[in-house]
Amino acid sequence: MKPSGNTILITGGAAGIGFAFAERFLAAGNEVIICGRRADALAQAVQKHPSLHTRVCDVADPAARTALVKWVLEAFPSLNILVNNAGMQQRFHVLKAKEAWEAYHQEIAANFDAPIHLTLLLAEHLARQASSAIINVTSGLALTPAAFAPVYSATKAGLRSFTLSLRHQLEKSGVEVIEVLPPAVNTNLGGPGLHTTGEPLDAFADGVFAGLARQEKEIGYGSSQARLRASRDELDNGTAQIWAGFMKGNPNF
Ligand SMILES: NC(=O)c1ccc[n+]([C@@H]2O[C@H](COP(=O)([O-])OP(=O)(O)OC[C@H]3O[C@@H](n4cnc5c(N)ncnc54)[C@H](OP(=O)(O)O)[C@@H]3O)[C@@H](O)[C@H]2O)c1
Repeated sequence: MKPSGNTILITGGAAGIGFAFAERFLAAGNEVIICGRRADALAQAVQKHPSLHTRVCDVADPAARTALVKWVLEAFPSLNILVNNAGMQQRFHVLKAKEAWEAYHQEIAANFDAPIHLTLLLAEHLARQASSAIINVTSGLALTPAAFAPVYSATKAGLRSFTLSLRHQLEKSGVEVIEVLPPAVNTNLGGPGLHTTGEPLDAFADGVFAGLARQEKEIGYGSSQARLRASRDELDNGTAQIWAGFMKGNPNF
């Protein structure tokens, strides 16, 4: 993708990884639109970067996704990049979860349904642009599931699979399909304090933008970069280690 002159929609762009990406896209000379559920977080983002465009939208809601696309195409007909970034993570044990289906279903809707639906809604439009891309933010956990977050890990593996298919389907259309697989990054994912031992956000985002500049199609960072080329035995071992490490710190999970 070209580094500047794009019109970019980032879901979940007011905080964490999405905001770090928004800042870098703005600095490189792009028009950036961000959306999220919290109007106050969007307003804070605009206070810091007045040129940002914002829209309140819960991407877990299919009607809200359709309304978002209608609005964005009317207001920004030059839209040529979709960044499917919004996501949530819940940690739970399946033996203690039978009452909370709606909460887990929200996780599937935000992490999996939303990027697929937005892709379907925007693919034709993107294919008509001279240069365009879809950037899906999955996770290193798409490769080594974190058993403490079983639905989250499954949504990310599912989105990775969809992304691989999409790249083949869109090859001749000119729409680039890029996957970003963050390792643990220090954001508020899952709630404040759960990812504080992750990679520093700015270093991670700079690493991703270096990958974009190299025209990479699958962009990992640190441990997730290594996992992209790991053997099946290494991946299985990684999954077991994540679970064992978690249970050591959370014996009553
Ligand atoms: N941090 C990590 O360790 C890590 C690792 C691997 C992958 N990732 C992925 O990176 C992406 C960004 O996560 P993050 O770490 O930046 O987490 P974050 O700090 O919690 O930010 C998540 C963003 O997504 C938005 N969002 C969540 N649910 C939404 C919904 N239903 N509709 C619209 N917006 C929604 C949030 O805004 P509102 O709350 O205002 O809606 C927020 O802006 C996610 O897809 C996550 O799975 C993160």
